[in-house]
Amino acid sequence: MTPDKKTALLERIAAYPRQDLIHRPTPMRKLERMTAELGGPEIWIKRDDLTGMAFGGNKSRKLEFIMPDVLAKKADVLVTWASLQSNWAMQTAAACVRYGVQPVLVLFKTYDLPPEPDGNILLDRLLGAEIRFKEAGKGKLVTQAGALAAVEEVAAEYRAAGKNVYVIPVGGSVPAADMDRPLGAVAYVAAFAEMLEQTRAAGFTPDAVVHSTGSGSTQAGLLLGARVLSPATRVVGISVSDSKDAFTEIVREVVEATERELGTDPVKAPKDILVFDEYIRDGYGIVNKEVADIIRRVFRAEGIVLDPVYTSKAFIGLVDLIARGYFKRGERVVFFHTGGTPALFPNRAFLV
Ligand SMILES: Cc1ncc(COP(=O)(O)O)c(C=O)c1O
Repeated sequence: MTPDKKTALLERIAAYPRQDLIHRPTPMRKLERMTAELGGPEIWIKRDDLTGMAFGGNKSRKLEFIMPDVLAKKADVLVTWASLQSNWAMQTAAACVRYGVQPVLVLFKTYDLPPEPDGNILLDRLLGAEIRFKEAGKGKLVTQAGALAAVEEVAAEYRAAGKNVYVIPVGGSVPAADMDRPLGAVAYVAAFAEMLEQTRAAGFTPDAVVHSTGSGSTQAGLLLGARVLSPATRVVGISVSDSKDAFTEIVREVVEATERELGTDPVKAPKDILVFDEYIRDGYGIVNKEVADIIRRVFRAEGIVLDPVYTSKAFIGLVDLIARGYFKRGERVVFFHTGGTPALFPNRAFLV
């Protein structure tokens, strides 16, 4: 990629309307003890769990780019959907209240946790979000196709009451409903650029970035950032919910939309969408002994708390991929900690 294309992308992103919701840059450091314990590549961590709004996480970064569109369209009610203990829903509610927009959260019961005011649901309640619980069936995912109709019904109620409603798809990922541009992914192109400045200041270019994939736009944004700004860096998504094939397709769709949005060169038949789905293990949101073990291990080695649904599974993947030789000694891997720690508390019974 020519310097011109890199500069053009960075200028394009810098020109976006952006609401200041987070602390930037988020910190990055080497995980000295985990690197030594695992005996493979140098492992670095990018602390997007410290974005600073509510309890932090990747969704606040996306909302910096999404909220300007919500405000430009003069919405007074924002409806979104997700699973019960959703970080996305909570951070969206936290962003809404700052601008006087009423958050309405449609939360699907995708696993066995009760809908009690604990973890993110406690925070949703404290924020004054309107919550509608819906059945999704155990193990069922909250996909666009499955949820949009139910969500539109809720939005219609508010429209009938004269409200100006903005509907955002789960995770701010696949453009749909009122978010008709891939603004969540644009935020993660910017995050890739932010990380690259930090790694370059530390004297290296990462061989890979590893992160959790749940709705697809973190991966899509990081991948587009890598393609333009650092093609040698692999972006490896660890799925927490859907199959490799399903996510490869979702990420491809969001990347293509982001290419059009940012005017970068389209890549036909991409081979660089790397998704691992074997770490879903017992299912989305199911906290088992392996999850509890990795949370304890990283906390005790590094003082960093992983969450039980996303980053724990991504770290399990990272450890296994090192053991399998996929990442090698001499390489440098940046692990994106994408937040989610409030979900530790409602899962306490499975963690100790
Ligand atoms: C803590 C956390 N990490 C990672 C993800 C996955 O990010 P994305 O939805 O962009 O795939 C999510 C949300 O799904 C999340 O809440």
